[in-house]
Amino acid sequence: SPSDPDLVERARAAKEKLGSKVFVLGHHYQRDEVIQFADVTGDSFKLARDAAARPEAEYIVFCGVHFMAESADILTSDDQKVVLPDLAAGCSMADMATAEQVAECWDVLTEAGIAEQVVPVSYMNSSADIKAFTGKHGGTICTSSNAERALEWAFEQGEKVLFLPDQHLGRNTAVRDMGMSLEDCVVYNPHKPNGGLTAEQLRAAKMILWRGHCSVHGRFSLESVEDVRARIPGVNVLVHPECKHEVVAAADYVGSTEYIIKALEAAPAGSKWAIGTELNLVRRLANRFAPEGKEIVFLDKTVCFCSTMNRIDLPHLVWALESLAEGNLVNRIEVDKETEAFAKLALERMLALP
Ligand code: 13P
Ligand code: SF4
Repeated sequence: SPSDPDLVERARAAKEKLGSKVFVLGHHYQRDEVIQFADVTGDSFKLARDAAARPEAEYIVFCGVHFMAESADILTSDDQKVVLPDLAAGCSMADMATAEQVAECWDVLTEAGIAEQVVPVSYMNSSADIKAFTGKHGGTICTSSNAERALEWAFEQGEKVLFLPDQHLGRNTAVRDMGMSLEDCVVYNPHKPNGGLTAEQLRAAKMILWRGHCSVHGRFSLESVEDVRARIPGVNVLVHPECKHEVVAAADYVGSTEYIIKALEAAPAGSKWAIGTELNLVRRLANRFAPEGKEIVFLDKTVCFCSTMNRIDLPHLVWALESLAEGNLVNRIEVDKETEAFAKLALERMLALP
């Protein structure tokens, strides 16, 4: 739906008043009404890399979710302030791994006698605490665009990987990209004693997958892939690696949001695509590429927004920008110094991956 012209004007005016003092970052899943004000748009990797691109900006307004704003705070200088326009914009997947649960898991691995062989690899979609745990134990962060390189690196450091918190990205990367088998992977359930695993199972595994998932991407099923292939002959199925293994195995292409955009930019006129990722992005791409004769549909029949990404709407963005323009620092996301130091170690290992 078109944005309220009054709010658009207010956002524009506040941004103009702030000038180079503000840098607005927007994840691809943000609403169109918000994305129009982003200085940079990107996937999680690009936004982490670019967060520090404007050292002169006093404020970084992060249009995305909480873990992304935390990462931006970790990767920018202390006098740059990161603002999340709605503090309720969290991520249900990131919430599936708490610091206490992960510490308990490490105890289980220690008891099984394997902790020394395990390298943690944590998906960007995790709290700063989990990133700090990862850094402390010699591991790295990854995103959906570099998970394979992160795993290759990790298996040079140790024999086993503890992959947090998205079991699907971990399994898909291990099996689809690294040639491991499903039997090389076990799932650690933080709600069961010992993760629901025996010491023998842990010792035999190469990939210990945390039992977390994205509820948005979890909605796509094998049936939705079969349905769209029957409905649209010749369709290319392109999905995000947060989808379940059977969906990824049945798809033609798999990649991060940035990969999805690049693939559609390179697609020939007349090609047909079914996309399995968040709906704001799919609609934007369908509208953008329709004039070039590329037919783009959403993979599922039901709508599927990320409700927490959607919390950042134009009224929240206007409120944040106007507050900053009046000199009121609101909704600052600040990671404490000790957590930041270890989390930064893990993030910098990711940024240094070949
Ligand atoms: P990417 O933009 O890195 O593909 O991640 C998708 C996502 O779910 C972010 O929360
Ligand atoms: Fe989290 Fe999924 Fe939303 Fe991404 S799409 S922010 S992983 S809930």
